Amino acid sequence: MAKDLKSIVSQIDDLPSLPQVVTTIIALINDPTSNAEDLNRALERDPAMVGRILKLVNSAFYGLSNRVSSVRQAIVLLGFSTVRSLALSAAIFDFFGQPRSVKFSRVAFWAHLVAVAGLSRLIASREAGLAEEPAFVVGLLHDIGKLVLDRYVQQDFQHVLEVAQKKKCTFLDAEHEVLDTDHSEIGRWLAERWALPDELVSAIGYHHCIAESPENFRRLTAIVSFADFLSYRKNVGSPGSYASPELDPDAWSLLTIRKEDLPTIAAEVDAELASSEKLFGLVVT
Ligand SMILES: [Fe+2]
Ligand SMILES: [Fe+2]
Repeated sequence: MAKDLKSIVSQIDDLPSLPQVVTTIIALINDPTSNAEDLNRALERDPAMVGRILKLVNSAFYGLSNRVSSVRQAIVLLGFSTVRSLALSAAIFDFFGQPRSVKFSRVAFWAHLVAVAGLSRLIASREAGLAEEPAFVVGLLHDIGKLVLDRYVQQDFQHVLEVAQKKKCTFLDAEHEVLDTDHSEIGRWLAERWALPDELVSAIGYHHCIAESPENFRRLTAIVSFADFLSYRKNVGSPGSYASPELDPDAWSLLTIRKEDLPTIAAEVDAELASSEKLFGLVVT
């Protein structure tokens, strides 16, 4: 019998909690009144994270002649939101740990998440009334349900990967064939368990079916859905998918992007992907 959300969840007895530093950074991103000093305070409570950030900042990527020795200095040099995104990306990457399934490349998966995060931020920057950073966070977390499959129901996950490969279909279609649920529903469950903000829960949970998202979060959901679609067009789609997804038609009606805008935003997309790749490369080393 195909497994549904309930039976998958019943197999999880050691669900890891999201590290404190991640929850704090997400809360700061969702609080428009938060500032650099709040971030500095949050990061300094986690010495391992401070070491990680300083290593990233001092890496050749930033080409700084003098070494940066404090988070405060890093924020002055690179800006509040860059340091915040770097910290969050590094913390989430560390949290995900090693993959279990051999057919699933964790590096390719991370490249996909970082690409969708960057593209979501880019699309949000073009949309009135939508903040860029929450869009970036949703991009990083949108496929988190796949990690639950990989970690807790490995055989089913493996089966989904095999079906997708054999039928040359999307991972989502293969999930629906093998399971009575999919990674977006599982991701929503996890996001709720972690008490993430409602807009993140919705965007993670409905990124493959925008119409089901609660109305007030639907535009953010449309952004991540659009970014996910673009990532396949740019060859940074999620590993385990053997066909490009269709763009959810609701994305067109909810966002101001028009088909004729696509050629002009192509250059911006390339620039965003190039800088996301740098971030990705730094975090995995
Ligand atoms: Fe997905
Ligand atoms: Fe995705």
